[in-house]
Parts: sequence; C-alpha cells; structure tokens
Amino acid sequence: MTDTDDNVRYDQARYVENGQYEPLLSEKDLTRVEIGEENGGDDGDDSPLPDDLTRDSLELPELSEPELVRHYTRLSQMIYGIDSGPYPLGSCTMKYNPKFTEDVAALPDGAVHPDRSEESVQGTLELLYRLQDYLGRIGGMDAVTLQPPAGAAGEFVGIRVAAAYHEHNGEGHRDEVIVPESAHGTNFASAALGGYEVVSLPSDDEGRVDLEALEAALSENTAALMLTNPNTLGLFERDIEEIAEMVHDVGGLLYYDGANLNALLGRARPGDMGFDVMHYNVHKTFATPHGGGGPGAGPVGVVDELAPFLPSPRVRTDGDASYELFEPEHTIGKVHGFHGNWLVLVKTFAYIARLGDEGLTDASAKAVLNANYLASRIEYDVPYEPFHHEFVASAGDQDAADVAKRMLDYGVHPPTTKWPEIVPEALMTEPTEVESKDTLDRLAAAFNAVAGEDDATLEDAPERTTARRIDQTSAARSPRLSWQTLSEEEE
Ligand SMILES: Cc1ncc(COP(=O)(O)O)c(C=O)c1O
Repeated sequence: MTDTDDNVRYDQARYVENGQYEPLLSEKDLTRVEIGEENGGDDGDDSPLPDDLTRDSLELPELSEPELVRHYTRLSQMIYGIDSGPYPLGSCTMKYNPKFTEDVAALPDGAVHPDRSEESVQGTLELLYRLQDYLGRIGGMDAVTLQPPAGAAGEFVGIRVAAAYHEHNGEGHRDEVIVPESAHGTNFASAALGGYEVVSLPSDDEGRVDLEALEAALSENTAALMLTNPNTLGLFERDIEEIAEMVHDVGGLLYYDGANLNALLGRARPGDMGFDVMHYNVHKTFATPHGGGGPGAGPVGVVDELAPFLPSPRVRTDGDASYELFEPEHTIGKVHGFHGNWLVLVKTFAYIARLGDEGLTDASAKAVLNANYLASRIEYDVPYEPFHHEFVASAGDQDAADVAKRMLDYGVHPPTTKWPEIVPEALMTEPTEVESKDTLDRLAAAFNAVAGEDDATLEDAPERTTARRIDQTSAARSPRLSWQTLSEEEE
C-alpha cells in the first residue's frame, strides 16, 4: 500500500474559512430575533416563569437552508464513523446500525407520552414485554429489566440486585466482588460503586480464569464473580461450569458481562452456563447506536431467585393479551425514568424480530468467522487462540497507540489499543459480523501497511485526517467543544 495507490489512498476533508475549520453555527453571522407573540413566543408580561429565566430576544444564525445543509454535511465529512468505514474496536464493538431500525423508531406510534394510562398504550407495553421475553430467552434468564441506559449502568444495577439479594437472605456481610485482571474497566468501577471491595483475579498462561487463583480468592465474603465469556481475549472460558459450581458452593453469584454475547447468539446461553445475573449491551449485540454518543440501553436479566429485586416498573401480561406495569416485590427502585430509553428498546426489538432465530445464529457465526479471517490476513502476531468474535494482536516493537494513529491515514478506524495488558502493545480487534470480505481485506491491508512502517512515520501520524495528533489526556479532561483556530504549523 503506498500513497500513490489510488485504490487505498484516503484524505479526510478539511474545510477552512478565515483560518478556522468549518466555524460553528454560533460563530457564523448572527442575527438578533425578537420573540413576540407573533413569532410563537411569549410576550413576557404574563409568563408564569420568573423574569431571570425568560428572554425577549434570541441570537440565531442568519443562514439560508443550503448553507445550513452544507454546514452539517461538511462536519460529517470531517469525521469518521461507522457509516464511513470499518470500526473494529475490540470489546467496545462499533457495529453498523441498520437504517430500518431508525425507520421503525421514527414511526409516529413511537411518540407516546410516558405518562399515558396503561390502557391507552397497550401496544407499547406489549413491545416492552416481548423484548423482555426475547432477551430472557436469548440469555437463558428468567426475568429482565429494560431500565438501565447503558451496559455499564446495567452492571451497576446487576451488582445492586445481587447486593439486595444477599442482604435479604441475611448475608449482608458479603463484601467482595471478584473481577478478572483482564476485565473491562467498568466491571471494577461497577463493583466498587455498588459498595464492594474489588478482588482482582489473574489469568492463567492460556489467558483464561486461573482456577487455583479463583479457589484462593473465593470465600464466605464473596458476593459475586464478574466474568465475560468469551473473555476479553476472545477465548471461551471452557471451565465455565466448574467456575459456576465453585462460586455457588461458597454462596456467591455469577455475573455475566454481556459485552461479548454476539459471539454466542443462538448457540450458547449464559443462563445455561450457570450465570445468575447479566447485562445485555444492546449496541454490541443488537446493533443499536452506542450509548456513549447518546441514549443507550443495557437491560439486565436474572434467574428467578433474583427477580423480586429488579428495578421497577417491569411489564407483565395476564396471558389475555393485556399488559400492565408492576413493581417487583423487593425492588431496588428506579434506575431511570419510566421504562428506560424507549426508542433504543424499539430498535433492539426491531433488530431481533427482523433477524429471528436463524438470523441471530448466523450473526454469531459471521462475527467469529470475520474475526478469524481478519486475524489470518494480518502480519501482527496473535498470541492467544482459539478466539471467537475478537482477537488481540500484539504490535510487537511498535507502539500500539502510534499504530492506531497511522491506521487512520489508511481510511480505517483502528482497533482498541493497549488493553488487555496481558498482551504487550495490544491491538484488540473486533470486525463484527457486518463487514464483507472486501472490507476485511482492506482492513488487513491497512494493518499490514502500518506493520511495515518505521517509527518516525508512525510517530508523525495521522497526516491525512482533518485533525492531526491530539493531546488525548487534555482532550478527555478539558475538552474544548469547538473547532480550534488553525496554528500556522497546521496550515
Ligand atoms: C467488556 C465490556 N463490558 C462493559 C462495557 C460497558 O458498556 P457500555 O459502553 O454500554 O456502558 C463495555 C463497553 O465498551 C465492554 O467492552
């Protein structure tokens, strides 16, 4: 792959005006508009709101429709997203969101006020009930709450449900949650926020749970073990039944992080493996938009014993096609307004209903096939196998962060980097089931082009994107949410 090869060359758009990238609307020509009754505003005199919360005029950009449309189109050309190309973020899973689910969520029937009477929203309740049922059957769980707004929020709910269960049974002394070293950061955070001491569990030489270390960590203080399967290396925890037995023998619960459920769909169920509680990351498994960029959903499923502790309200039916909301007997309370993020749940429902049993089973086959095909095409070493829907390659002597930056220059999004730490300079890669062979080949070509490049080139990357290398720490800690004025150097 070379710069001159037109088949793979990529240059991201850069619109510059007066030394600035595309200005924000508020930085364009502004006009002050008086808000009078004739413009649909309040005349100010009889407003029920206090004076300091109302205004009589508003600054609005003075733009024509084409200028407005072009502004947003330009912005969309200066970023990279799942609609631009592959986005193989291992574990974080950026799956293409099929547009039909957006159409379903945009149907006028979806715009129901959450305070409407149960009798007048039977269709809404039926959808929620059927989604609870779908998710329960997919995960092998007996009861499901749809309320949590993201995977991490689901983890927190699952941990609080586990805590309520232990307390109810007079086992409130249990104060430890065991989390594998290689687990996602949110697992540690959810356990700690849920009020537990976090006990970290090392992996064995093959990258799986170390049974001896687990034995040593388990005690009468264990509230739960949190696991994902396949684990973050993409490896199936073959000893899962033994692990479940060990945890249950000391009175603990087994928590399933559903982030990797798309590797198992239609083939294996966490409930059958012995898990007691799990969250579903619907954006990873059922192709809804990712919660980080807007409202998400992270439903939680549990076995019968934990069902009375789930958040309220849940939906049930009397079996006569009539649906009602109810409060589980020992509910931990509400974790979100009303039913959770309703329109994300509609998209989840639409996706599952459209794919059906066969489609979901096919999705997991393709997720695993795609990861294995891509790994077989790249020159970087993949130390742990056999993996499922994702793999962790090692950048070896290269810095994984530099590799990621350089991959942007080839028009693909890089994998997750430097995690899990068990693999040096980790490139954690998950192509997902949606990518075609051509796209996987293009992705492999980008990996391999970067693998052959020198440190100086990598350290200087990216050079073809709208923004060059940014200071990631400052960007995360003190974000400046407007375009920077271009420095002379960048120009
Ligand atoms: C393994 C794992 N668990 C949990 C989460 C948290 O999910 P969410 O991003 O929906 O909060 C993630 C997110 O990327 C993850 O990769």
